[in-house]
Amino acid sequence: MRIVELRSDTKTLPTPAMREAMATSEYGDDMVGDDPTVNRLEAMSADILGKEAAVLLSSGTMGNLVAILAMCQRGDDIIIGDKSHIYRAEAGGASALGGVSYHPIPNQPDGTLDPEQVEANIHPPDQHYSPTTLIALENTHNACDGRPLTPNEIKSVADVAHSYDIPIHVDGARLFNASVALETPVSELVKDVDSVTFCLSKGLGCPTGSILAGDSETIDKARRVRKILGGAMRQAGIIAAPGIVALESMIDRLAEDHSNARTLALGLSKIPGFDVDADDVYTNLVFVNTTDELPSGVPQKLAEQGVMVGDRGNNLWRLVTHNDVSSEDIDYTLSVIEATVKAMRN
Ligand SMILES: Cc1ncc(COP(=O)(O)O)c(C=O)c1O
Repeated sequence: MRIVELRSDTKTLPTPAMREAMATSEYGDDMVGDDPTVNRLEAMSADILGKEAAVLLSSGTMGNLVAILAMCQRGDDIIIGDKSHIYRAEAGGASALGGVSYHPIPNQPDGTLDPEQVEANIHPPDQHYSPTTLIALENTHNACDGRPLTPNEIKSVADVAHSYDIPIHVDGARLFNASVALETPVSELVKDVDSVTFCLSKGLGCPTGSILAGDSETIDKARRVRKILGGAMRQAGIIAAPGIVALESMIDRLAEDHSNARTLALGLSKIPGFDVDADDVYTNLVFVNTTDELPSGVPQKLAEQGVMVGDRGNNLWRLVTHNDVSSEDIDYTLSVIEATVKAMRN
């Protein structure tokens, strides 16, 4: 059966070139810095991001947690968007393991934080308050339609943060999607921030892994935190090898995913029961509201036919395009959805 996996870009399978690189790369013991493939990926990542150093981690969640623990002490406070992945979906790791409190402020509908609200929420140096020691942004913003944050939007928050000597971290799980959508180099997107993570395992198509980059001192601390968390790995080049392939060959093609996402939204907007505006699709994430016109049980019926959609409850679907979804898959998906809805109505 033809499978069209639209639930997440984390569902991608390694490409033939990635499998080949995994089979043929050189490996060593990364815990003592001896894996040439990890070293190469980390150096390439730092270079592409315009940062001094980078470290390979097992996941985006680990990257964000390691960044927070490297930059904050117990009892500190981090300002963060209330719709951010770190705040909502990373198991409270910073408070559970680091004694750091999350200080959520509203994400604007476009995923940004309002610099004035950021400033108003920075704790004064007073014994009553936990010190604000980090501000975190997300780019693209997953829960805000996958919208990319522009360099100016990032700078406006970074300027506030830096005027209080507070660093900025960017959860850039889909940073390369932002870069491609804005036609702006990633180094430009992160030039005003102190640390950034990106995921190899989402749109870039790798089986696993994320990168954390920043200044050398922060990354040295991050290596120690990674070790404490049990995340320092031995022959980790097996993960890094596909990462190198991704950085060399999987970035520009993200434009196809963005175009497929828009085509999908446009097609769905013509099927009764779906409320979606293709103009609200910025990258590879398509959020669709379903209306009362849609019979119940459509996602299950689609799954039986191999079309896997992300039903998030509350009449909201999230559909994600990626390397394993072609433009033909999008046409096929639209025809299956249209036929299924029609049949279920009759
Ligand atoms: C915006 C964002 N940040 C971080 C993560 C965490 O990445 P991982 O699943 O690799 O832990 C995700 C995962 O979906 C994400 O969407």
